[in-house]
Amino acid sequence: MNMNGKKALILGLANKHSIAYAIAKALAENGVEIILSYASPALAKRVLPIADELGIKDCIQCDVSKDYDIQNLLRLVKGKWDSLDYLVHSVAFAPSNELNIPFHETSRHGFLTALDISVFSLIATLREAEPLLHSGSSAITLSYYGSQKVVPNYGVMGIAKAALEASVRYLAHSLGEKGIRVNAISAGPLRTLSSSAIGGIAQLQRRIEKTAPLARNIEPEDVAKSALYLLSDLASGVTGETLYVDAGINIMAY
Ligand SMILES: NC(=O)c1ccc[n+]([C@@H]2O[C@H](COP(=O)([O-])OP(=O)(O)OC[C@H]3O[C@@H](n4cnc5c(N)ncnc54)[C@H](O)[C@@H]3O)[C@@H](O)[C@H]2O)c1
Repeated sequence: MNMNGKKALILGLANKHSIAYAIAKALAENGVEIILSYASPALAKRVLPIADELGIKDCIQCDVSKDYDIQNLLRLVKGKWDSLDYLVHSVAFAPSNELNIPFHETSRHGFLTALDISVFSLIATLREAEPLLHSGSSAITLSYYGSQKVVPNYGVMGIAKAALEASVRYLAHSLGEKGIRVNAISAGPLRTLSSSAIGGIAQLQRRIEKTAPLARNIEPEDVAKSALYLLSDLASGVTGETLYVDAGINIMAY
């Protein structure tokens, strides 16, 4: 795909297992210029060498729970570029003691934290990025099927993902007038830092191998290829959607 010279801001690369890594790699291979944003100073030693390997020069630390950090991130992006073609939001968090518990034991703090970092951050980032976005710009975020059906141990993250998918629809509407598209990819389970906090992933993946239409689990590259589609002009008429990249498991009743 010719994406030469396009400009992308990617949030959520923590290591080489991150879904954001697969997307960054695919975009870089297709000629996209990238600015990476990572959560904390402690992550720099891991993220900077990866950026280097991908030929990415600019990495900016941004804790999305802080308004100042998001404003600062977009201020620095505006200092480098006068427009932004693609925004990739691959960020989620819930305190680990809020997962793998009976859902009714969710705390107010856990609920607000999960929704703040995993959902509001998309709205806040797009709001700050808006002056750089133009007709044809496209944003994606990452969701999971726990938004639609109960997935044991996923708890408050399921509610966050339901709110994320609804936010995608509202953002698609409010930014649609400017020709800006916003979509979500609902990815099947992958072994990453985030998913390691959720009990039972290995069993879930074994079940998917047996019951998914494609009889396999997905690879990060499956997500990256669909991300390229949604970000690029190939999806010029698609907005507000949640695209399942899950080997088809979501269509199965059992
Ligand atoms: N791994 C899976 O099975 C799976 C499936 C479907 C959807 N997803 C979603 O994909 C996205 C990426 O997750 P991943 O699996 O690649 O794991 P990951 O841990 O590699 O990525 C999550 C990212 O969120 C970042 N983050 C957390 N708190 C932050 C904060 N306060 N400020 C800025 N960044 C913060 C982390 O630093 C990390 O880079 C998440 O939205 C996740 O819910 C993952």
